[in-house]
Amino acid sequence: MVPEALIIAAREAAQKAYAPYSKFCVGAAVMDEAGTIYTGCNVENVSYGLTVCAERIALFNALSQGVRRFTALALCAPERVTPCGACRQVIAEFCDADLPIALTTPKGEETQVVRFGDLFPNPFDAAAL
Ligand code: THU
Repeated sequence: MVPEALIIAAREAAQKAYAPYSKFCVGAAVMDEAGTIYTGCNVENVSYGLTVCAERIALFNALSQGVRRFTALALCAPERVTPCGACRQVIAEFCDADLPIALTTPKGEETQVVRFGDLFPNPFDAAAL
């Protein structure tokens, strides 16, 4: 279950995107166990490879405030998209396979909830490290 407030927060975060190159404005929001919401947007760079996705910024926002466990994630993009591979590996570091992820759009007509483990079934995880 993804609270509506988290989905709305992701939509609002998308409005803060810095995406002058792709014009693809993305917002993300994560919720911690206390119900607090942390948001992020994509931040692009003229050196394109330095761009950071909204999901990682939302997670890093929460992580930098000491949060380590998450109960839900919401993602808003101009069309319904799933997190990129790099973001999936970062999500896997902190979230259970059962994490619900809401995929939505600015107007929210096609919101869909997916289970993180279904999206990314075999994350890299080395016992030796
Ligand atoms: N982007 C995200 O922020 N999250 C995603 O899940 C997919 C892609 C951003 C990166 C770049 O700024 C723009 O969307 C186009 O790829």
